[in-house]
Amino acid sequence: MGEFSARPKWDELIKGEKGEYVHGSVYTSPQIFEEELEKIWYRTWVYVGHVSEVPNPNDFVLKSIGPQAVIMTRDREGQINLLLNRCPHRGNQVCLEHRGNRGSFTCPYHGWTFVNTGALRGYPFAAGYEGSDRSTLGLGKVARVGIYQGFVFGSFADEGPSLEEHLGAARGALDALVMSSPEGEIEITAGFLQHKAKTNWKFIVENETDGYHPQFVHASIFDVASSGIGDLYSADSTAVARDMGDGHTEIDLRPEFRRIGKPMGWFGTSEERLPDYVSKMRAAYGNERANEIMIDGTPHIMIFPNLFIAEIQIFVIQPLSVDETVQHVTALQFKGAPDINRRLRQQTMGSVGPAGFLLADDSEMYERTQRGVHMRKPEWNYIGRGLARERRDEDGHLIGDATDEVSTRGIWSHYRKLMEAE
Ligand code: FES
Ligand SMILES: [Fe+2]
Repeated sequence: MGEFSARPKWDELIKGEKGEYVHGSVYTSPQIFEEELEKIWYRTWVYVGHVSEVPNPNDFVLKSIGPQAVIMTRDREGQINLLLNRCPHRGNQVCLEHRGNRGSFTCPYHGWTFVNTGALRGYPFAAGYEGSDRSTLGLGKVARVGIYQGFVFGSFADEGPSLEEHLGAARGALDALVMSSPEGEIEITAGFLQHKAKTNWKFIVENETDGYHPQFVHASIFDVASSGIGDLYSADSTAVARDMGDGHTEIDLRPEFRRIGKPMGWFGTSEERLPDYVSKMRAAYGNERANEIMIDGTPHIMIFPNLFIAEIQIFVIQPLSVDETVQHVTALQFKGAPDINRRLRQQTMGSVGPAGFLLADDSEMYERTQRGVHMRKPEWNYIGRGLARERRDEDGHLIGDATDEVSTRGIWSHYRKLMEAE
C-alpha cells in the first residue's frame, strides 16, 4: 500500500477482529496527517492551558492547538479567550511575547490594535478606511472554550459534544487529581520545558499508557534510583490498563498502591518526609479521606488527543507535521502545598528535564520507531497483547493487565471513529 490517491479507507488501515493490526502508513502519510488536523485537532476538544497560567485580568500566554498558535487571554471581565495569532489585516503575528499582562495587542506591521477579547480597537490613519466594517476585522477565535477543574480546552467546531461529554470517564481522574491539593486546586505555574522529537504524534499518545515498555526502556533509571516504579509495570503487577472510552486511557496504579497501603508511597516517599503537606491534607479532608487520597496518588491518564497527566507532571502533545511533534512538560503544583511542590519540581527535572532520565529514553524510542515504520515490511504494527484476557470493570470499561495493550487499542478505535466521520 503506498500513497493514497483517494480518501484513506480505514478498514484497510486498521484490521483484525479488535483492531489489533495498525498499518505503518498511518504514522507516515502526510495526507492522513492533513486529515487528522481537520477531523481531530480542528474539530474535537483539545487541551490548551490552565486557568492558573492567566490568574489576573489582562494576563495572557501563548499556547497552541496542533500547528495553530493560540493566545490564551483573560479579559477585563475575567473570561478566558482563545485567539488566533494572525492579524486580520495582512496576516502578521500580533503577539510575540510568550506571556505577560496587557489589555490589547498591537500588530507590529501596520499598528492595528486588538482588545484581548479579539475585537479590533483601531488602526492608524483611520481616514483611509471609510466604509469598512470594523466588526468583521477582529482576531480569529477558537469557536468554543470549555473549562474543567481549571483545565482549559478549545474546539474549533461551532457544534459538537460538550466538553463534559468529550471528557466522559476522564472527568473522574481530573476530579481525583485536584484532591491531592489541600485546597482542591491544581496550579500550572512551574514553567514549561519543550522537547521536540522527529516522530508522529500518535506514537507518543500510544506510549503514555503503554505499561509494556518501562521495564526495558527505563531499566537504567529503575536501577539507579532503586525505586519501586519498575515493579508497577511488571507481569506480576496488580495495576490495570484501562480503555476509558472516547479515546482516553489510563494505567490505574491504585491497586498496587493500595496493596502497599502506605500514604505517599505513590510519590516514592513517606508521610514523615512531608509533614507540612500531610498535616494540611488531614486538616482539609479528615484523617480517613486524606489517607485514601495519599495512598491512591494521582492519575496516570492520557486524555485524547493531547493531555497526558503523568502522576507528578503534565505533558501537552503538539503535532507540527506528520513526523515532528513537540511535548510541552511541566510539574504539577498542588495549591497550598509548598513543600511537596518543591519536590514535584525537582522530580520533574530529574525525570523529564534536559538531563532527565525518563523522557530521553522515550524520545529515542519515538524517533527509532518513526524511522522503522518507513520500512516496507511487514507493513503492520501488532497491538494484540492481552487480547485473550481483556475483561470489563464494574463501570463497563475494558481493562487488562498492566502490560497489556488494551489502552492502545482503545486509542485506535476512537481515532478510527473520528477519522471515518464526514
Ligand atoms: S499585518 Fe497587522 S497591521 Fe498590517
Ligand atoms: Fe516511557
